[in-house]
Amino acid sequence: MAGDEPGRRREDRGSMKFAERYGPWALIAGASQGIGAAFARALARRGVGLALLARRLGPLEALAGELRALGVEVRTLPLDLGSESIESGVAEATKDLAVGLLASVTRPFRWSHP
Ligand SMILES: NC(=O)c1ccc[n+]([C@@H]2O[C@H](COP(=O)([O-])OP(=O)(O)OC[C@H]3O[C@@H](n4cnc5c(N)ncnc54)[C@H](OP(=O)(O)O)[C@@H]3O)[C@@H](O)[C@H]2O)c1
Repeated sequence: MAGDEPGRRREDRGSMKFAERYGPWALIAGASQGIGAAFARALARRGVGLALLARRLGPLEALAGELRALGVEVRTLPLDLGSESIESGVAEATKDLAVGLLASVTRPFRWSHP
């Protein structure tokens, strides 16, 4: 029965359903602190893999370590949403990820994903 896999804790089963429906990956822009980091933590607890975008790599990597300890995959994208190459930069950095959820808690940006 779906969600009854051996080895999964009971409280994990709801997380699996969330991740299957909205993931398996989420891209969060403005993720390194504040609202974006809080959103990333909430999604990680639900089993969603995180692509974390902000300009500064240090805070992104610190958060990534915290989230990986929760058991999810994390990729950091140290990119500036104000740069002219942002659309291609994000596309290149996420081309192998099945991103089901996109959130930007900072400035909006153009992004196309297959
Ligand atoms: N509607 C409301 O009630 C309400 C309440 C609070 C906040 N807000 C708004 O919500 C947004 C987030 O608030 P917050 O408190 O979480 O802000 P914050 O703590 O300043 O975090 C902003 C995030 O965006 C990243 N960022 C900023 N400029 C960027 C750029 N050009 N490219 C890529 N990443 C960039 C920052 O990382 P880096 O610096 O490393 O790039 C950081 O991760 C803000 O726009 C704020 O005005 C709205």
